[in-house]
Amino acid sequence: MDTRIVKIEEDNIDQTVLIRAGEIIKSGGLVAFPTETVYGLGGDALNGTSSRKIYAAKGRPSDNPLIVHIAKMEDLPRIARDIPKQALALAGKYWPGPLTMIFNKTECVPPETTGGLSTVAVRMPSNKIARALIEASGGYVAAPSANRSGRPSPTLAKYVAEDLDGRVDMIIDGGAAEIGLESTIVDFTEENPVILRPGYITEEMIRQAAGCPAGRKTVPGAGDGGEETEAPKAPGMKYRHYAPRGSLTIVEGKETRLVSAFICRELQGAKAEGKKTGVIATDETAAVYPADSVKSVGKRADEAEIAKSLFRILREFDDEEIQVIYAESFDVQGMGQAIMNRLLKAAGNHMVHV
Ligand code: TXA
Ligand code: MG
Repeated sequence: MDTRIVKIEEDNIDQTVLIRAGEIIKSGGLVAFPTETVYGLGGDALNGTSSRKIYAAKGRPSDNPLIVHIAKMEDLPRIARDIPKQALALAGKYWPGPLTMIFNKTECVPPETTGGLSTVAVRMPSNKIARALIEASGGYVAAPSANRSGRPSPTLAKYVAEDLDGRVDMIIDGGAAEIGLESTIVDFTEENPVILRPGYITEEMIRQAAGCPAGRKTVPGAGDGGEETEAPKAPGMKYRHYAPRGSLTIVEGKETRLVSAFICRELQGAKAEGKKTGVIATDETAAVYPADSVKSVGKRADEAEIAKSLFRILREFDDEEIQVIYAESFDVQGMGQAIMNRLLKAAGNHMVHV
């Protein structure tokens, strides 16, 4: 399949391209597009055959459901039912935006889209290209992150092309994803809302907007001490994710000085074995590491910058064929929770404490 790659500016959207992209999706094809979180791989959410194509293009297990993207609140009832007031309050505050909510689904949503579940995940993105595409596509676009299964989510169109060129009809290049980590997922099908995937919208923000506490589900493999015996609520969280090709180890400790010293020693060992080495550092520490490639995620206190840099850096290490990677760890407060969640998954939970 020939993949057309087109550039669009969010503030000057070329409508003819959007109409063409909408036609592709309406006729059962696939279009990758930018959102404010990460790039998505879009198909018609109400067409089971389109969803099957999405799983095939990503190489993703078909029991791992897709998020349905909408552009207007009035489009929600067609796909979701039993929507609690707390969810409406959250939508009022954070839609459009980096928030996904799970509801019971209606008959309209084919089982392929929800991986056979009776529930549906819904998000209303804020990126203008994404919104225009959803409208041009009939209102309901199923879109997982636009990476091959297991790879870091793409924050730039060139990474989408790296993974999906020849596997999708069109890639819309709308520049860098603003947030850089996928949406927060909140399950509203239980008595109380439960956060299944941490993200930019934090537990505290949800508590305040929804007027109720939001629990957190420890998901197997999520790296936060989840019991392996517990049934996964967000099926995708059980799979290996975001992994760079090199082996990644997170080093955690109360004193940054000790963390850096440990990493420096490990780097010497890896170099002695002839390995190409990399470090995920911060602006404060980047200068101390004798690695082949040292990448700073930004200032330690700037969570937004760290979130935005993380997946790009993981992919850059692959481009540079780095074999052994060490990462400093980050605080698990606020958005730090989402950052550590993704980093731990990328490391296959491999973390050492010093
Ligand atoms: O920011 C995002 O959410 C991006 C952009 C493109 O919108 N999308 C994204 O989709 O991250 P994906 O497919 O990579 O991750 C969706 C996660 C998976 O872990 C999946 O298992 C979970 O959402 N999920 C989807 N539908 C679900 C459902 N009905 N119940 C539980 N989990 C669900
Ligand atoms: Mg994904």
